[in-house]
Amino acid sequence: MINTPVLVTGAAGFIGFHTSLRLLKAGRKVVGLDNLNDYYDVNLKKSRLKVLEEFPSFQFVYADISDKDALENTWAEKGPFLEVVHLAAQAGVRYSMENPYSYIKSNCLGHLTVMEMCRYTKGFKHLVYASSSSVYGGNKELPYSVEARVDTPISLYAATKKSNELMSHSYSHLYNIPQTGLRFFTVYGPWGRPDMALFIFTKAICEKTKLPVFNNGDMKRDFTYIDDIVSGILGVLENPPVRDNDKAPYRVLNIGNSRTEYLMDYIHLIEEELGQKADIDFMPMQDGDIRETYADITATTELTGYKPKTTIKEGVPRFITWYKEYYNVGT
Ligand SMILES: NC(=O)c1ccc[n+]([C@@H]2O[C@H](COP(=O)([O-])OP(=O)(O)OC[C@H]3O[C@@H](n4cnc5c(N)ncnc54)[C@H](O)[C@@H]3O)[C@@H](O)[C@H]2O)c1
Repeated sequence: MINTPVLVTGAAGFIGFHTSLRLLKAGRKVVGLDNLNDYYDVNLKKSRLKVLEEFPSFQFVYADISDKDALENTWAEKGPFLEVVHLAAQAGVRYSMENPYSYIKSNCLGHLTVMEMCRYTKGFKHLVYASSSSVYGGNKELPYSVEARVDTPISLYAATKKSNELMSHSYSHLYNIPQTGLRFFTVYGPWGRPDMALFIFTKAICEKTKLPVFNNGDMKRDFTYIDDIVSGILGVLENPPVRDNDKAPYRVLNIGNSRTEYLMDYIHLIEEELGQKADIDFMPMQDGDIRETYADITATTELTGYKPKTTIKEGVPRFITWYKEYYNVGT
């Protein structure tokens, strides 16, 4: 087993936290980097870090991935990092209409800076970074296949994620950096993000406030449970792509559940689990949003054995148990 630390960017975030935790439990050293931005409740990020900091093999670096000097110092002081799981980004489709510059800074400049560090690391093994199902934009053909064209993003967020894939290909080609981009599909679970549906719905039902449901509820999502996502990330991390003559050591994979669920079924599950009805406010479709997502995960399964196990019937109650405990609801 490699004993150099894994660098996890966005370690205080939802997916970065769970990825770091799994690595630490498996005996790996982890350096987690995050700028703890205030896109959502910073206390939730700090609480996640508290859990990670219980492991002596975890070190936290408070830094911004777009800050070249900060990354160079991190590499010099805590590295070298031969494996990087790069999850730090400005997430969220809707917020990219409000604060577009933060997406270019974190997702484009930040991605470049991380790749530049990998470029100069001798013996570098694998950069695994987060892309998103949002790159599929208005594609009609389901399930979404990594072979499909994704040249027509419908939000700036999606455009930055597609840009990451293009930037990564150029660096893999030029500098032989093994890279895998993972297109995540609506990730949910304990310690989840407050700007995402499951959190918003649970909070609204608990607090008896109106619950906005877009496109009049006519939406379908490939909801993917966090533990499955982490298994996918780590399975991929262990299997870096290799150069094949002229073909760069580069690939893009879908990481979804490969089941598409009606949003209203998801809401009914939350209601059942909380024993309370939602006060739904049906709204029109929001700009930049997608009606349905559904992942074709054939290539991911073939390459890494990735097989999602958790249905929403199992995953939603686990989130709600965490939510009630963390926010002291109904206890
Ligand atoms: N959660 C999902 O359903 C989902 C779906 C598709 C793609 N993704 C992608 O997966 C990755 C992780 O998502 P998440 O749900 O954990 O989001 P998150 O917002 O919880 O985590 C991202 C973390 O990155 C940090 N960060 C942001 N900009 C930074 C910067 N410039 N420098 C350092 N740290 C920075 C944030 O403080 C945050 O803690 C992101 O790239 C996101 O775009 C997530």
